[in-house]
Amino acid sequence: MGKTASFTCTACGAVHSKWSGRCDACGEWNTIVEEAPLSAGPASKSLGSKRGNAIALSDLSTAEAPPPRTMSGMAELDRVLGGGLVPGSAVLVGGDPGIGKSTLLLQAAARFAQAGLKTVYVSGEEASAQVRMRAQRLGLGDAPVKLATATALRDIITTLDRDTPQLVIIDSIQTMWADNVDSAPGSVAQVRAAAHELVTFAKRKGCSVVLVGHVTKEGQIAGPRVVEHMVDSVLYFEGERGHQFRILRAVKNRFGPADEIGVFEMTGSGLAEVPNPSALFLSGRGDPSPGSVVFAGIEGTRPVLVEMQALVAPTPHSQPRRAVVGWDGARLAMVLAVLEARCAVPFAGLDVYLNVAGGIRISEPAADLAVAAALLSAREDTALPAECVLFGEISLSGALRPVSQTENRLKEAAKLGFSSAIIPAGGKTGGTGGLSLQRMGDLTSFVGEIFGA
Ligand code: TYD
Ligand code: MG
Repeated sequence: MGKTASFTCTACGAVHSKWSGRCDACGEWNTIVEEAPLSAGPASKSLGSKRGNAIALSDLSTAEAPPPRTMSGMAELDRVLGGGLVPGSAVLVGGDPGIGKSTLLLQAAARFAQAGLKTVYVSGEEASAQVRMRAQRLGLGDAPVKLATATALRDIITTLDRDTPQLVIIDSIQTMWADNVDSAPGSVAQVRAAAHELVTFAKRKGCSVVLVGHVTKEGQIAGPRVVEHMVDSVLYFEGERGHQFRILRAVKNRFGPADEIGVFEMTGSGLAEVPNPSALFLSGRGDPSPGSVVFAGIEGTRPVLVEMQALVAPTPHSQPRRAVVGWDGARLAMVLAVLEARCAVPFAGLDVYLNVAGGIRISEPAADLAVAAALLSAREDTALPAECVLFGEISLSGALRPVSQTENRLKEAAKLGFSSAIIPAGGKTGGTGGLSLQRMGDLTSFVGEIFGA
């Protein structure tokens, strides 16, 4: 480590030799901050410097069963963790401020404690009385969780070292402060040092650690991105403001599938699990209306049905608007371009709005066909049959490509009372779940058959 200052991007963690307005690595603006050099102080001497021992791979006993995972009993959380919490693992839970991270983790702490784990919840943001009040509001007032309010890392680690718990929750990593780093709490250097020390401690002691990290799009607070590679699992807690649904999404998981989601609903008494998200996401649907279609998607290992809504209207501006919530803007542009170029359905002079209902974010290309259908339905002012679901990827040539897990998607749709599906031709279908299928080879035939255009 050099002694000169370096410049780190708070969004992606890239290190640069000089400041600039835009990070070359991730392309974000105004995210580069100066980091003070590491001080020569009593660096990383906080605790025990035991000598390590290298062991031959063959000496590792293979008979040893993997340590059992602990289930919290919150099925939505356990699934996202890959089937419960692995002892000695490090988990980062990131999300926007106010999204409900503290609420989720306090509830999780109580459940893990009730499941028999010795659990400590360290809050650097709220006073003990506040945490206790929240716990009471959540009906967890008498859960066997130990609370601590501290921000000095050395104190925390010293305390934990004396009486090591099996699970430590640090809320949040941005409030932690390591005295061997010469910069303010929340800076990249502090976040990195604190996370490193906590994760190392956890691995050494075999205790699990959950780090909470705030993310802001502006990169005002040091992005927990710099922590992502230090931990075993990275979970993001997301949701649209003004929506009560919250999605916990695994973006990295050494112990389970990534992209798995857990769905929660924020209620007056904390987060409630949503075991059947499809029913919830579709609950607001009224009679069939133009611009609304149902996409049969897969999130992680679970099929999820969501409503895609589009609005297409003549624009009063010289430059038509393309606004999208819950899906990728670039992907929308691509679908529009394919509709224009391959199917001769122009969108010039028309504003296009696309919204995934319920506040969930969809990233699957399998949603292409549903998006195209919503756009066409809105443009032609023609509603699709209410009992029909769609999925399929659109290629630039306008061909429809088969997607994974066709059978699971169809089964979920059947379970929710849908009776037909429009899907790509080709590809395997195990069973149809009892749905009548309409298979389409390309977007042009879809436009012709469904909208008669
Ligand atoms: P919080 O967990 O403090 O968010 P974070 O730790 O991610 O910053 O959640 C704050 C929001 O959650 C706040 O706007 C109020 C809401 N909330 C409820 O709606 N019901 C509840 O039972 C609790 C505890 C919070
Ligand atoms: Mg909080």
